[in-house]
Amino acid sequence: MTAGDAEAIEHALLDALSAGENAEIADTWGFAEAMGCPHTETVGVLISLEAEEMLKSKKLETTYFVVSAEGQRVIEEGSPEMRVLECVPVGSDGISKAGLEAALGADVVKIGLGQCMKNKWVAKGEGGVLVRGANGGDGAVEDAAKELLKKVEGGETLGDQQAKDLKRRKLVTQVTRKSFKVTRGGSYAVRRVKRQAELTKEMLASGSWKDAAFKEYNFKTLGAPCGGGNLHPLLKVRTEFRKILMFMGFEEMPTNRWVESSFWNFDSLFQPQSHPARDAHDTFFIKDPASALSFPENYLEVVKDTHETGGSTGSVGYGCEWKREEASKNLLRTHTTAVSSQMLHRIANQEGGFTPKRYFSIDRVFRNETMDATHLCEFHQVEGMIADRNLCLGDLIGVIKTFFHKIGITQIRFKPAYNPYTEPSMEIFGYHPDLKKWTEIGNSGMFRPEMLLPMGLPKDVRVIAWGLSLERPTMIKYGITNIRELFGHKADLNRTKTAPVCRFD
Ligand code: PHE
Repeated sequence: MTAGDAEAIEHALLDALSAGENAEIADTWGFAEAMGCPHTETVGVLISLEAEEMLKSKKLETTYFVVSAEGQRVIEEGSPEMRVLECVPVGSDGISKAGLEAALGADVVKIGLGQCMKNKWVAKGEGGVLVRGANGGDGAVEDAAKELLKKVEGGETLGDQQAKDLKRRKLVTQVTRKSFKVTRGGSYAVRRVKRQAELTKEMLASGSWKDAAFKEYNFKTLGAPCGGGNLHPLLKVRTEFRKILMFMGFEEMPTNRWVESSFWNFDSLFQPQSHPARDAHDTFFIKDPASALSFPENYLEVVKDTHETGGSTGSVGYGCEWKREEASKNLLRTHTTAVSSQMLHRIANQEGGFTPKRYFSIDRVFRNETMDATHLCEFHQVEGMIADRNLCLGDLIGVIKTFFHKIGITQIRFKPAYNPYTEPSMEIFGYHPDLKKWTEIGNSGMFRPEMLLPMGLPKDVRVIAWGLSLERPTMIKYGITNIRELFGHKADLNRTKTAPVCRFD
């Protein structure tokens, strides 16, 4: 039988037990030897048959001796004691130890002479020479060690003392062999019926399903890992933020356009054309197409007027010439407030007039920043705004507190700030319990009349608004300290795969 012939082994094992209820294989070792197949393979087949309860096994442990390499030399050349004895002549002349060593080598003499003395094969004669001892006879003495080793080689078992002596002399080594006694199992049959894993169309068509044996369901097995995509931590946090904002009655704004005109990104927000943020150092301008093609012309005229003179808003404006070319420049939006202003313009001009609205968005923005551990050129903004009549700063503070409470930031402070499009403006600070310090977490304010009135919103409509980055709370939530590990080419895909779901309790 060749190695790997599992089926033949299986048949042989089952056949060996076919004689009757009490048939057994006394020892798989002997069985495998008789079959001429490796014992390990026999055990493999045995285990698989046992799993189906066709066979039962009991562990056996057999200890025996094998001749060591040194023992092998004894079998071939005789034991050291015998070789020494053979060199000691019969009679009183004897031989010196040096003479023995010259003949046999120091090693053999060292072991053999001691044994000879102990056996009284050799004794000390006159002048210290070595002569035959009382048991040394005149030639024919049995080489007991050699004879014993031959027995070991032949598979005979040794007496305890004999075995101990040979082991001590390292002429044999002890081996423990594990094998099995095999008897019939509860489901024994001479042949294993191949059990079907599934019911097929063919089995139904031919009717063979009636006689087929089926595998049981294994409810403990793990499902195969499915290699789908994984939500990035930013998306997980975004999902939660969305839920919270929608729960608070906010509608999502369409933020799917990354390229905006300077008009919507800056001018509609009453950000002056000379503002430093409108410099290429801070903003990514688009080369092709460099300019936006169309604007709501009437509105654009009012915006121009408001920037230059304040128009009818009661403001004095910026007092300098407003250029359409500047407003036409395309750019990668620097904030999602560019979308907020378009939404406000839309609700100001919708059919039926203004209706109160709560809007939010969570999407990407771009800034020409020097990158470091906390800044990237692109990041995500969470933006929210409420447009309603007679809102006041208290409403803004209230809605911001509610939102941040829901994401687990309970200690909030506000600091007066400046934005070209809000008055008053407030930076939002949250207490970071791990870092034990107040950190800036957002920016907010009430949109200026110079922004709202040109759109055509009624005079008593106030818009409270706020924005924050999505990255900062995500880094806090997921314990990430370097933003580059969160977002961009250095982000570890494994982290994305294994990131837990995000939940704010
Ligand atoms: N646009 C601001 C920013 O980018 C955030 C903001 C939104 C501030 C709305 C006030 C009102 O930081």
